[in-house]
Amino acid sequence: MIEKTLSIIKPDGVKAGHTGKIIQIFEEKGFEIKSIKKVHLTKSQAEGFYYVHRERPFFNSLVSFMTEGPVVLMVLSGENAIAGNREIMGATNPKDAKEGTIRKMFAESIERNVVHGSDSPESARFEIPYFFNVFEIL
Ligand code: CMP
Repeated sequence: MIEKTLSIIKPDGVKAGHTGKIIQIFEEKGFEIKSIKKVHLTKSQAEGFYYVHRERPFFNSLVSFMTEGPVVLMVLSGENAIAGNREIMGATNPKDAKEGTIRKMFAESIERNVVHGSDSPESARFEIPYFFNVFEIL
């Protein structure tokens, strides 16, 4: 099934100059980039995006990390794109990520983990329109 998923290259990945390499990985794995933009999230945008995590002890730190510099937002599409993207990213904690995954290669900690991807069709249905309107998704 062809799906769409939201991908974020987080401030650590952008700052370290990994944007091009990460996009290349997605393209080589067969994803199509339906939309892409670079933005510097505000505190309220980051809080709203991570609303499901609002009760977690790491929430404030996560919001501060996600607003420390620009991020690259993408809508990716492809066969089973949601699970496929999570496979390519690797485990949330880079210590648990498999060899060859983006987080294994580039992430430094469970929080500063370089990329985000929608974790389910329900999340993708919330996350894609959170950042992109229908006219921006080609
Ligand atoms: P992400 O896939 O964007 O989803 C929620 C984010 O919260 C996660 O990646 C990490 O950046 C962060 N996160 C998840 N668990 C922890 C944790 N235990 N400590 C700190 N940050 C976390």
